[in-house]
Amino acid sequence: MPEKLEEEYLGIIQDILDNEEFQTLKNFYHHNSSIYTHSLRVSYYSYKVAKVLELDHKAVARGGLLHDFFSYDWREYKKNKNNKNHGLEHPKTALKNARKHFQVTKKEEDIILKHMWPKVFGMPKFKESILVSMIDKYCATEEFYGGYKEFVQNKVKFFAQAS
Ligand SMILES: [Fe+2]
Ligand SMILES: [Fe+2]
Repeated sequence: MPEKLEEEYLGIIQDILDNEEFQTLKNFYHHNSSIYTHSLRVSYYSYKVAKVLELDHKAVARGGLLHDFFSYDWREYKKNKNNKNHGLEHPKTALKNARKHFQVTKKEEDIILKHMWPKVFGMPKFKESILVSMIDKYCATEEFYGGYKEFVQNKVKFFAQAS
């Protein structure tokens, strides 16, 4: 992801980035960074691919940014047996939060709700929803693997120093 993002892209999502509640996502660890960083990556890559495929780049930029709008650590959440399945529930939480703070279009709504597809029930209604769902899986895998690689490298370094 480039350090300097395109003016056009920033123009589409700046109000979300500036939102105080959305900023709290910086405090919650996700894969190997924060929910904020992960969401920004999903949004930006979806926007870039949508432009090439001539899809609705605004909807994927905004829907992608809001897809994981939940302000809690899901590892802690899962420890409480009273909490429902995070994987199935968090798209609904994200949509609720998105609606509370922003105007959400029908397409953005579907992008947020179906991003865990095919784990969630119901088919995505738009090509843009499928795109964000695929980019989310790509980013999550890359971020998780990146973190895992670092973890293994640190372990190897640790044992090499100890021996
Ligand atoms: Fe998610
Ligand atoms: Fe995600």
